[in-house]
Amino acid sequence: MAVILGLESSCDDSAAALVTSDRQILAQAVVGQADQHRPFGGVVPEIAARAHVEILPGLVRQVLRDAAIEIGEVDAIAATAGPGLVGGVMVGLLAGKGLSLATGKPLIAVNHLEGHALSPGLTDASLDFPYLLLLASGGHCQLLEVRGVGDYRRLATTIDDAAGEAFDKAAKQLGLGYPGGPAVEQLAGQGDPEAVPLPRPLVGSGEPHFSFAGLKSAVQRAVQSGKYRPADIAASFQAAVVDCFVDRTRIALRKSDAPSLVVAGGVAANASVREALETLAAEEGRAFSVPPGWLCTDNAAMIGWAGAQRLAAGWVDGLDVPARARWPL
Ligand code: KG4
Ligand code: ZN
Repeated sequence: MAVILGLESSCDDSAAALVTSDRQILAQAVVGQADQHRPFGGVVPEIAARAHVEILPGLVRQVLRDAAIEIGEVDAIAATAGPGLVGGVMVGLLAGKGLSLATGKPLIAVNHLEGHALSPGLTDASLDFPYLLLLASGGHCQLLEVRGVGDYRRLATTIDDAAGEAFDKAAKQLGLGYPGGPAVEQLAGQGDPEAVPLPRPLVGSGEPHFSFAGLKSAVQRAVQSGKYRPADIAASFQAAVVDCFVDRTRIALRKSDAPSLVVAGGVAANASVREALETLAAEEGRAFSVPPGWLCTDNAAMIGWAGAQRLAAGWVDGLDVPARARWPL
């Protein structure tokens, strides 16, 4: 059994975790920076990078203390090396390099998207490869066939905005502030999902791609019209996103013989999304798996877990590995 220290700093969450190759989460800590970014209505890259510098070392100390182990006892250090806001990525990756250098333990540079993609296996030991993954986060919206560690086939992506980005923009238009996803979900719970007519971009098209820009503009028009209750707009928006997810994912499932459907990434924390995709999986005769909410949004346990699997495959990185703003899976 190997113990991996995971580090995450690609957006506005600083996180550290200790996980084992046999799926134990020994300790983990996440500190969001929402308070620092909220006055600007979104994540400010420079502020994020500076905050990681201040927060991350304390989180490493905290998880080591919580797990009652010394840094020298870890078997490897896994740090997000991209994609993301590159200033923040550099902070976490360089912290990982420093710890690797000091301890002599291998460094594993983890693709953040691979962290999300493999995250369901951390809490669901029965999940086998291959599985069809809907990866919906603040920066990405993709359908991937996950065939194994390091073996991904992308079936679809978004032609404009990511799903989480759409939630964040809808929140802004509704005056809900930042971060948007959880606030929209909460308000949607008090609204009528059929009250506001909103488009379902690309629904019905033969390739399973996504588009959310038109939905964003329609939400803006609905807000500006003054005709609708904010809760009804939130509920109708959420229903439109869910309809897009279900329709697009159904097309992808029909192009894949993967026995399981999995949803991950921050937007997978949304209860309506989880329920709708679980129903879809049942309709299409597939098993279904979704990580617990805390494992959907950014965290370091998923980075440690991806690191554990890369370590098992013998894939470690040199101290010269770059931080990458863009890094497709
Ligand atoms: O995976 P994540 O934490 O960070 C990225 O890698 O981007 O995803 C963050 C995104 C944000 O856009 C946030 O608004 C969205 O996930 N999100 C949600 C919910 N919780 C987070 N969207 C809808 N409903 C939620 N409950
Ligand atoms: Zn993420």
